[in-house]
Amino acid sequence: MKICLNNVLLLLLLLLMIMFSCSSASQNKEADNYVQDACSVTHYRDLCIQSLAPFSNSAKNNPSRWARAGVSVTIGEAKSVAQYLATTKRNKKATLGRGRNKIALSDCVECFQDTLDNLHKSLIVLRKLSIGQFSSQLDDVNTWVSAALTDVDTCLDGFDEQKGKRVKYLLNRVSNVTYLTSNALALVNKLATTGPKCLINE
Ligand SMILES: *[C@@H]1O[C@H](CO)[C@@H](O)[C@H](O)[C@H]1NC(C)=O
Repeated sequence: MKICLNNVLLLLLLLLMIMFSCSSASQNKEADNYVQDACSVTHYRDLCIQSLAPFSNSAKNNPSRWARAGVSVTIGEAKSVAQYLATTKRNKKATLGRGRNKIALSDCVECFQDTLDNLHKSLIVLRKLSIGQFSSQLDDVNTWVSAALTDVDTCLDGFDEQKGKRVKYLLNRVSNVTYLTSNALALVNKLATTGPKCLINE
């Protein structure tokens, strides 16, 4: 009788382990909790939850889907900021101060192009992950998302610290892309440490 109960418990445990093999927490959760759990590995958690909540129902506890969601949200925002930068650059009246900031803005427009290229490449690979190439694919994605992060940081560094309203607004928007990219990188790294087992239930 005792052995029998032990066997049942063992079986239950095994079943639970299989069910939650792709999740970091071992609790059953409602849709809302998926995003909080996924974002727990990120540095800018509130922004992560706010920007990725719409993916909760589809991504559930699948790290591969969360990594994709993180990168695509970052692409969306980076595109919008890149457009803003390009418009500001063209607008002769939009003075960001003289000299240094003007050069910084030009550099930023280029940096954002690089950032977008790197993020796009990453998303393409994240969409066709395979078990056999998983670790080299994840290495590439890590390299590209890290490069994207460096580029956005470089953009931020170019500007003089200024109190000007326009510069402040610009720096806020660029910083936001830094935070989103950092979050995406954390989600990519989470996927890398989880390994390819989550691709099975894709
Ligand atoms: C940051 O990006 C997110 C996601 O696109 C967006 O919802 C939010 O409004 C942005 N915040 C700022 C300050 O630009």
